[in-house]
Amino acid sequence: MSLPAQKSVRSSVERHENDLYTTDPEAVRQLLKREKFHVDVLEPCAGLGHISEELSKHGYNVTSSDINDYGYGTPNRDFLTDFFFDEHTQEFDIVTNPPYNLAIDMVQRALLIAKQKVAMLFPYWYITKFYWMPPRRVYLFTRKIDIAKDGNFDAYHNKNMKDYAWFVWDVGYYGDTIIKYIVNNKRVTKQVEKLEKEYSDMSKYWNTSKGNMKKEVLRLHSEKFSNREIGRRLNIDEKTVRNWLKENV
Ligand SMILES: C[S@@+](CC[C@H](N)C(=O)[O-])C[C@H]1O[C@@H](n2cnc3c(N)ncnc32)[C@H](O)[C@@H]1O
Repeated sequence: MSLPAQKSVRSSVERHENDLYTTDPEAVRQLLKREKFHVDVLEPCAGLGHISEELSKHGYNVTSSDINDYGYGTPNRDFLTDFFFDEHTQEFDIVTNPPYNLAIDMVQRALLIAKQKVAMLFPYWYITKFYWMPPRRVYLFTRKIDIAKDGNFDAYHNKNMKDYAWFVWDVGYYGDTIIKYIVNNKRVTKQVEKLEKEYSDMSKYWNTSKGNMKKEVLRLHSEKFSNREIGRRLNIDEKTVRNWLKENV
């Protein structure tokens, strides 16, 4: 299904107080590069279908609904109270950018009915709202993404003041949250470019066996073991320990 023309939105819709802020499809593509979902996905706050359309293009069977009628998907469905599927027989995941004033209710409801995964877009600082059920992964955009009122991306391009993130819950997982970055900056400064390379090389080095050994030397040194004792524990001579420490301390 193609997206309805932007102009018809305001005039034809009997609006609830929930405003329509549409998601840049590029933000959805970035999520789909990193997460796989069940082949059946529900977009329960679909708006004009910017998330749904991108999911469909990636091969998912998408069911779209919204509390309002924007001429896309099934209208007049309140996600918090209406039923969408036979919850006992059908499996699906949920992907949406919901209204933020209902963030907690939306997450609570989604976790009750999704079978495996829930992904929702929120301002990144909403992470503190979900301490009661931490998302498993949070993907933080390093640059602001476009969220356009009423699908008007031309008017809202680069105007966003908020930083966003995708929050992903694995249903049934309760534990620590991993934060990952989606580096979507068009340009990075020379300084960051240099740091990116240096740190990536360095982390590769530290993962080699020699790198690991040096890390262990540093750890034991920080715990106040003598060079001799460090050498004995790691089966390397004391002189090597001394030299490595000279390089790094
Ligand atoms: C931030 S907009 C996002 C639209 C779309 N998900 C997107 O990303 O382009 C939130 C949408 O949620 C809808 N909405 C608000 N409250 C809802 C509810 N209780 N149930 C279903 N949809 C709701 C609004 O009508 C609006 O379309």
